[in-house]
Amino acid sequence: MNNFIIDGKEISAQIKEEVKKEAERQKEKGKSASLAVILVGNDPASKVYVKNKKKACEYVGIQSLSYELPEETTEEELLQKIDELNKQEDITGILVQLPLPSHINEDKIICAISPKKDVDGFHPQNVGNLSIGRSGFISCTPAGVIELLKRSNIDIEGRECVVVGRSNIVGKPMAMLLLRENATVTICHSKTKNLKEVTKRADILIAAVGKPKFFTADYIKEGAVVIDVGIHRDEKNQLCGDVDFEQVVEHTSAITPVPGGVGPMTIAMLMKNCLNAIKD
Ligand code: GUN
Repeated sequence: MNNFIIDGKEISAQIKEEVKKEAERQKEKGKSASLAVILVGNDPASKVYVKNKKKACEYVGIQSLSYELPEETTEEELLQKIDELNKQEDITGILVQLPLPSHINEDKIICAISPKKDVDGFHPQNVGNLSIGRSGFISCTPAGVIELLKRSNIDIEGRECVVVGRSNIVGKPMAMLLLRENATVTICHSKTKNLKEVTKRADILIAAVGKPKFFTADYIKEGAVVIDVGIHRDEKNQLCGDVDFEQVVEHTSAITPVPGGVGPMTIAMLMKNCLNAIKD
């Protein structure tokens, strides 16, 4: 199979360049974007993600403000902080890094963020807008997957797309976005029977199960496009995805690697959302 490795690093760099130029144009019009990033607690992975988000903001010319709150922060205190940021006119985007400590109700926090500043696209209003075809903020990782497909000239319309994983952040919005692109969409999850039979129908398979190297060659139709949303460390401490890349790659027409596939797209799309927050 003549396979093609989708270069998420390169495509995300293009998007960041576009955002950077647009941010300059907006500044000339007197408009500037600023992102407030809230991190609660000491989760090491979250710290890395937040650092990378701030770095990307700096690169594209979006101001970032960082609020690093202790693990013991109460739900009330966090709601108070969000309320302040909602009211602050010079803050145009708000992001609360997930997961939150278990004593804080994530859903309550997500709902407290003003939908107009919800650059993660997690607020029910934005989720609802996506599902009925209205404009609004879209969750960055699935939005990034669509960009990867489009910019790699992979047709979506009319194709069998199978999304494995039904999280609010990835699986569900991913299915909605593929539907919006006129794909035939199937969502699978941990209770799906005969998963292999379903995934073997996929022209485009989106792997978002959160299990390292879960998808082996026997899940893949010959010549499929495989998009790997997972990120893990394998037994050798190397980064890997939900797909067993080495085994699967030769059966695909295109595939995303880990690292360097979907990962960098999430932050690029976040930058795009931050800029969209100030555009009319
Ligand atoms: N945790 C894992 N992914 C995300 C994301 O896209 N946004 C936020 N806020 N938290 C996350």
